[in-house]
Amino acid sequence: MMAISDFDEITRQLLTFVVFRWKSPLDSALILVAGDKSYESIKKLGLSDAECEAAVVAGNAAEAPPVPPKPVAPVGTPVVSSLPLSRRLLRNRRSPALKAAFHETSLSPVNFIYPLFICEGQWNFAYSSNFHLFLGVSLSLCELLVFKGEEDTPIGAMPGCCRLGWRDGLVEQARDVGVNSIVLFPKVPDVLKSSTGDEAYNDNDLMPRAKRLLKGRYPDLVIYIDVALDSHSSDGHDGIVREDGVIMNEEAVHQLCKQAVSQARADADVVSPSDMMDGRVGATRAALDAEGFKPVSFLSYTAKYASSFYGPFREALESNPHFGGKKTYQMNPANYREAVVETREDEAEGADILLVKPGLPYLDMIRLLRDNSPLPIAVYQVSGKYSMIKARGVLKMIEEERVMMESLMCLRSAGADIILTYFALQAARVLCHEKR
Ligand code: PBG
Repeated sequence: MMAISDFDEITRQLLTFVVFRWKSPLDSALILVAGDKSYESIKKLGLSDAECEAAVVAGNAAEAPPVPPKPVAPVGTPVVSSLPLSRRLLRNRRSPALKAAFHETSLSPVNFIYPLFICEGQWNFAYSSNFHLFLGVSLSLCELLVFKGEEDTPIGAMPGCCRLGWRDGLVEQARDVGVNSIVLFPKVPDVLKSSTGDEAYNDNDLMPRAKRLLKGRYPDLVIYIDVALDSHSSDGHDGIVREDGVIMNEEAVHQLCKQAVSQARADADVVSPSDMMDGRVGATRAALDAEGFKPVSFLSYTAKYASSFYGPFREALESNPHFGGKKTYQMNPANYREAVVETREDEAEGADILLVKPGLPYLDMIRLLRDNSPLPIAVYQVSGKYSMIKARGVLKMIEEERVMMESLMCLRSAGADIILTYFALQAARVLCHEKR
């Protein structure tokens, strides 16, 4: 944005341009009279407008500024004739100002959703009013005690990411640079996992506790919740799996509805089923509405592929499927048209936002959904892609920051409105820095 103090400079440049372009410098002087402080100096010459004109007519024009020298090409540059081009696209890229004027896609921290891994730490104690009363200390001191005592566990496969017990200030740091949306993923202790994933709808589970704590602190924070059984399933699957390995669609949907309602009860703003069961959007929407959660938004993982790019995420949550893969319910990476069918289903069942996952290298799928639906499109820049960029960056094989920003821009330009990305904080910092 142009600062007020830039105004004089811009006016000066504009006028200089006029002076160079106009044949007569005295004519230019007339322009200056109309628009600039130099009016004063012209006046000092003691000439009126009519006198200036008369001077020019009499051939007394002041000398034009010298023509700037032609830039010299490197020695040895071949002398060639011009190509007969009817269009030269380089014209629009000639200067930073022109490039800025024709910049098509914007990238802003408001486009980011920050995925956070949380684990049992002392979430139990946080915001427990009994705890304050018992200690007889002020809330802020109490928070300090509770939050400072917890440790983050680095995730080996995702450099720069941690499982957060309660990472004091991380959400605040993100908000400081304009990222006000997060999605939470819980690392559930093995003893609480079962093949039917019932802990997923326990109102006193880690997720509802964490969410209430965050909402208590930041009421306007937007919290997305991933609805799927995998983090609560002893089998590591997104639904219930029969002993012969077959996923039980209806039974899974039944559990997912309970999970979504439990999350809505704990103040989730957006529920986002990532399981890919058939009919789960309609069923979950109906369950939410029946329980009075009509305002809760619905992001559906519409085109979620059975991808090998989820590996680091599964390591972070220790949620690798124990048998079989997810290929019987997540989409086949070879399938393109099928995503249109998924889109139609999700739209008809009441989804508010459609998601493509992974993002890179599935840019064509983002564009496909963008062109086939008027709904907002989200994309998940998944753990595998994040880790690839990070690891190469650490090894100095690429310029991490530039690659990060470019990859995010490409997701936007493919048609994504919002991006779930582990780079949210880092990228938002870059954007804020660029603005200053
Ligand atoms: C769970 C879920 C997964 C991811 C998001 N939600 C893993 C999976 O489907 O196996 C992956 C995200 C990532 O890799 O960053 N349903």
